[in-house]
Amino acid sequence: MAQTLLLLLSATCLHTAGFTRENDLGFNQPAVLSGVQGGSIEVPFSFYFPWELAKDPQMSIAWRWKNYHGEVIYNSTQPFLHEHFKGRLIMNWTQGQTSGVLRILNLKENDQATYFGRVFLQTTEGMKLWQSIPGTKLIIHALITTPGSPFIIPSAVLTAGLEDTRGQRNPSLLNLGAMVGMVMAKVVVIIPLYGWVIFLWWKQRPAE
Ligand SMILES: *[C@@H]1O[C@H](CO)[C@@H](O)[C@H](O)[C@H]1NC(C)=O
Ligand SMILES: *[C@@H]1O[C@H](CO)[C@@H](O)[C@H](O)[C@H]1NC(C)=O
Repeated sequence: MAQTLLLLLSATCLHTAGFTRENDLGFNQPAVLSGVQGGSIEVPFSFYFPWELAKDPQMSIAWRWKNYHGEVIYNSTQPFLHEHFKGRLIMNWTQGQTSGVLRILNLKENDQATYFGRVFLQTTEGMKLWQSIPGTKLIIHALITTPGSPFIIPSAVLTAGLEDTRGQRNPSLLNLGAMVGMVMAKVVVIIPLYGWVIFLWWKQRPAE
């Protein structure tokens, strides 16, 4: 009875071990990373496999972007680098290492995508090729730029100017590109406006 139990236990253990071995293949990289436009980002990666390497493993690392079957942007073997990343992609990885760092410099807004690491190598059981399934989602934050205002405009004047022009001749005054233009427009509108107010006040005064 005890012997049967032991046999059953070892059978379970063996099965578990076998199951683990089959899944002992992967490509690790962060799930999400975020960078700032103009900055740089580092994507650390590592991979593991259950096989024995061939004498000449001919390891090759490649990166795809956008989706699992997306365009290849880099291949260490050819070597190949996508035009979009010219001069901005650095691979810190050397032949035979199972880890490294992908670095993207001078981040652009349209670098925002998912990046998938991919490895090719020769084993005693033949050539193997696999890739990260989830990849690394790269989020790019835009630089926060505040439009420079060369003039300090009293808020009362600004409000008056906006209220008096809104819905009249120039409803898009707010959208004027240059601050200078905006100030000029207000001066043009406000001076006659103040003149009109003063005129009304002056006209009404003798009636009191
Ligand atoms: C390359 O990455 C390794 C760690 O993987 C690090 O120790 C080394 O400093 C890096 N080299 C460069 C030039 O970034
Ligand atoms: C890189 O390119 C070579 C040659 O085309 C190819 O054999 C290899 O599989 C590629 N590497 C990866 C990781 O896709």
